[in-house]
Amino acid sequence: MGSETVPEERSGAERPNASPNTVPEERSGAERPNASRRAAEPAISVRGLTKTFGDFTAVDGIDFDVPRGEVFGFLGPNGSGKTTTIRMLTGTLRPRSGQATVLGEDVVRHPDRVQRRIGYMSQKFSLFEDMTVDENLKFYAGVYDLPPEKFASQREYVLNMADLVGRENELTRNLSVGWRQRLALGAATIHEPELLFLDEPTSGVDPVARRQFWDLLYDLASRGVTLFVTTHYMDEAAHCNRLAFIYRGRIIAEGSPAEIRADHMDQRIFDITTSRADPALQWLETAPGVDEAYLSGASLHAVVPADSPLSGVSLRERLAGAGFTDAGVEEVNPTIEDVFVNLVSRQR
Ligand SMILES: Nc1ncnc2c1ncn2[C@@H]1O[C@H](COP(=O)(O)OP(=O)(O)OP(=O)(O)O)[C@@H](O)[C@H]1O
Ligand SMILES: [Mg+2]
Repeated sequence: MGSETVPEERSGAERPNASPNTVPEERSGAERPNASRRAAEPAISVRGLTKTFGDFTAVDGIDFDVPRGEVFGFLGPNGSGKTTTIRMLTGTLRPRSGQATVLGEDVVRHPDRVQRRIGYMSQKFSLFEDMTVDENLKFYAGVYDLPPEKFASQREYVLNMADLVGRENELTRNLSVGWRQRLALGAATIHEPELLFLDEPTSGVDPVARRQFWDLLYDLASRGVTLFVTTHYMDEAAHCNRLAFIYRGRIIAEGSPAEIRADHMDQRIFDITTSRADPALQWLETAPGVDEAYLSGASLHAVVPADSPLSGVSLRERLAGAGFTDAGVEEVNPTIEDVFVNLVSRQR
């Protein structure tokens, strides 16, 4: 963690509504007369949030709510405003205008109250490279004033979760990216936060490690932790209960994956496989009746209007006529990636 992510106010003198060390399940309604109202309150509520750098608007009047206990995916291409949004929600960057409530607190007015109840795994993984695994965990436990017995049990949990048992004394810089990623998750959750912000946690990690990391996130979600995860891997949308898609600082789609598909995809998609993908893509990009064509995994996707007369058979015939005789064509349901590619192309 860079110093930016360390809570600026660590005294704990002014405890707000909850102890930072209380896991959601442990909260009893008896102790909290207003517990049911709090449970219904969103974990994050954002209205008109805006950030400018000079005359450039990086985040432009965004609105969204994150219900408690959900895995909320904040998706967008490079430079779209994901990190800037997270930094405003974690109280490390002041918005130019708008409101943001995090765990019931106004994060602009009281960043300190929010910071001790959240975890933040920043885009650079926020670890001290020249410290050992154990020293990193101790550092973060210190940031949150974890009592020694709590630290002992959390340390054990984190080392097991991150598969780091036996590596406690290894220098962090010597760990592979996948291990550093899990250690960073452990450091960000050492104080059992109610809400965890993860900024591109799976960036630069191989597909197997990405899959394993998502399993760790599901485990946290099943224990009641709200997760706010940014990614530019569109396939990771499928891991989320709700999504918001940010593009050039504006939210252009929001909802569950199914809602987003239903609300924003009124075109049809053909999946095309051929050994000559590059020239076939060039041909499709200018083919009459095709709105859009792009690479999708190992195949090509061609988007046509909902009322297009094209069928899989007729598109295959046209491709064969253009010299792509091995092309296989199949009409498919749009993926979230298809929806976003099309939303972005409409913004241009
Ligand atoms: N401190 C800053 N000063 C000036 N411009 C900034 C600053 N921080 C971010 N920006 C700009 O704001 C825009 C949004 O940046 P941000 O880091 O939020 O994007 P992002 O979605 O997190 O991108 P990435 O996927 O690459 O991490 C970019 O154009 C970026 O260059
Ligand atoms: Mg970023």
